[in-house]
Amino acid sequence: MSDKKLGVLIHGAGRISTQYIKAFNNNPNTEIVAVSSRRIESCKQRVEEAGLKNVELYTDYEKALKQDNVDIVAICTPQHLHCENTISASEAKKHIVIEKPVAINLDELKAMRDAVRKANVKTIVGFVLRWNPLFETLKAMIADNAFGNIYFVEVDYQNYINSWWSGYEAVRKKETGVSASLVGGVHAIDALRWFAGRGRYKSAKPIEVFAYKGGFRMGKTEAYVKDAHRWRDGAKPLEYEAFEIGLVKFDNDILGKFSTNSECIMPYSFPIEIFGDRGSVKDNRIWSHKYPGQTGWVEIPTIMPESGDVRHHPFQAEVDHFVDCILNDKESHCNLEDAVLTHEIAFACLMCYETGEPIKLPLL
Ligand SMILES: NC(=O)c1ccc[n+]([C@@H]2O[C@H](COP(=O)([O-])OP(=O)(O)OC[C@H]3O[C@@H](n4cnc5c(N)ncnc54)[C@H](OP(=O)(O)O)[C@@H]3O)[C@@H](O)[C@H]2O)c1
Repeated sequence: MSDKKLGVLIHGAGRISTQYIKAFNNNPNTEIVAVSSRRIESCKQRVEEAGLKNVELYTDYEKALKQDNVDIVAICTPQHLHCENTISASEAKKHIVIEKPVAINLDELKAMRDAVRKANVKTIVGFVLRWNPLFETLKAMIADNAFGNIYFVEVDYQNYINSWWSGYEAVRKKETGVSASLVGGVHAIDALRWFAGRGRYKSAKPIEVFAYKGGFRMGKTEAYVKDAHRWRDGAKPLEYEAFEIGLVKFDNDILGKFSTNSECIMPYSFPIEIFGDRGSVKDNRIWSHKYPGQTGWVEIPTIMPESGDVRHHPFQAEVDHFVDCILNDKESHCNLEDAVLTHEIAFACLMCYETGEPIKLPLL
C-alpha cells in the first residue's frame, strides 16, 4: 500500500456535504482535494468553515473529474442528479459515494448500476444507519443467534419533513422527489432488509411487495412547525402522499413491514421490532434465550437512531469502512448493487398503487 493519500472530490456543497468533508478530512488515508457545486460561493463556504487548504473549486463537475489527484467522488447533490453524476464519475474511473436515494426511477437505477459494473469501481450508498451503534449491536446479536430463527421484522421512518430543509424544494416535488418512501422512507426500507439479513453483514433479498399510500398532507399549504409546536399557512405543499405502508416477503422466508410517515405530529422516531423463535427486540429492549433469568426487558444503553439531524449520523464510520474497502480491494455490503434491491422496494410500491396487485421482485 502506498503512503499517498486518496484524493476526494466533494460534489454538491450543501448540508450533507459538511459531514462527508469532516469524515474524509479525519480519515488518515484521504484528503479533500476538490469541491464542486452549482455555485462557487457554496464551495468556498464549505472549504472555509472546515479550514481546508489546497482545495480546487469548480462549478463544472466534468472539469473537476479530470483533476489528476481525484480518486474518490462523494455525490452530495439532490437525488435527481445522482444518476448522471454517478455515470460521469464511473466513466472517469473514480470510486463513488452516492447519497440516497441513488435514483428517481428504474431506468436510472439500471443505467448507473451498468455504468459502475463496466467501470469496476467501488461504491458505497449513504445508508449511514447501518453504522448506528444500536444497528451494530442488533446485527451482532442476530449473528450470535440471540433471537433464534427470525420470522418478522418491522421498521418505521417517522419524521415530519420540514420546509426549512435546504433540499426540501427538490424533495417535495413529484418530478424530483417521487415519493415519501423514496426520499425519506428508503432508510427504513434499507433497515428492514438489513435486519432481515441472516448474518452480521448480510441484507435480505426481497421477492414480493404490497403497499398502500394515504395520510393527509399531500397538496396542503398548512405546515407543522415542529420546534415551535404550531401550524402555519402558506407552505409549499408535498406533491405526493406523505404516508406509505408496505409489506415485503424476503427469499429467506422472513416477512417485513415498513412505513414511511413524513407527516407525523411528533418528534423524529425510527422504531425497530424483530421477532424470532428464541427472542424479540423492541428498539434497544431485548428479550432473549441468551438471558435465561430475565424477568423484564434487558435495555441496552446505546446511541439510538432517534434524530434526523445529519450531525448525529455516523458518517465517520461509513467513510472509514469505504476507505478500507478501497485500500483492501473489498466490496462494501452497502454498495450500489445492494442498494438497487432497497430502491426496488420503493419503486415496487409505486407499481402496486397503479395495479393494486402484489409486485414480484427483482425488477431489474
Ligand atoms: N444519508 C442521509 O442520512 C442523508 C441526510 C440528508 C440528506 N441526504 C441526501 O443528500 C442529498 C443532498 O441533500 P442535502 O440535504 O445536502 O441538500 P442541499 O443542502 O440542498 O445540498 C445539495 C447541494 O447540491 C447543489 N446542487 C444543486 N443542484 C446542482 C447542480 N445542478 N449542480 C451541482 N450542484 C448542485 C446545491 O449547490 P449550491 O449550494 O452550489 O447551489 C446544494 O448545495 C439528497 O439526496 C438527500 O436525500 C442524505
